Amino acid sequence: MTWEELERAAKRCTRCALCETRTNPVFGVGVRDAEVMFVGEGPGENEDLQGEPFVGRGGQLLDVMLKIIDLDRTRNIYIANIVKCRPPKNRDPLGTEQEACIGWLRAQMDLLRPKIVVCLGRIAAQVLIKPDFKITSEHGKFFDVNGVSYTALYHPAALLRDPRKKPDTFVDLKSLQAKILELAPGTYGRS
Ligand code: URA
Repeated sequence: MTWEELERAAKRCTRCALCETRTNPVFGVGVRDAEVMFVGEGPGENEDLQGEPFVGRGGQLLDVMLKIIDLDRTRNIYIANIVKCRPPKNRDPLGTEQEACIGWLRAQMDLLRPKIVVCLGRIAAQVLIKPDFKITSEHGKFFDVNGVSYTALYHPAALLRDPRKKPDTFVDLKSLQAKILELAPGTYGRS
């Protein structure tokens, strides 16, 4: 399957009830041969309205965080979410919704074949790294999953709620930059 075929199919998805309340499905954004992939939880209100991940206040903060280590959604990374449709009132996606949706993310990963996957927040880390992932004690650590390097950062929304977490995230970003230079140095050669 090509990216275009996958995107067309995902945008028509009716595998769970979130399709009934979405304005737009949020497939993903970025460079479709990037070596570094970021994965959030699911679209919020602004993302649902615009059809693009991380475009609200949290998204603006994410872009600032990315810039610190010379990453940019238009240049050298790909960004997607665990669920493609907004859960009503921004509640956490249900287990059943995650299970219904995860195939789309797996298909995106099969096309992208990232060397590094960065989970944004606990939910993505629990789905992609391990079910008992503890974001407060395990953020910034690297985990090998089938030969791919995974890590998790605090979710930008958590940083907006509690700015005292920002210094830890700065350290995590610098470790991520070092890991990219080790495993995916081409990331920094793209213009
Ligand atoms: N939060 C997420 O986890 N993903 C988005 O796309 C926006 C906000």
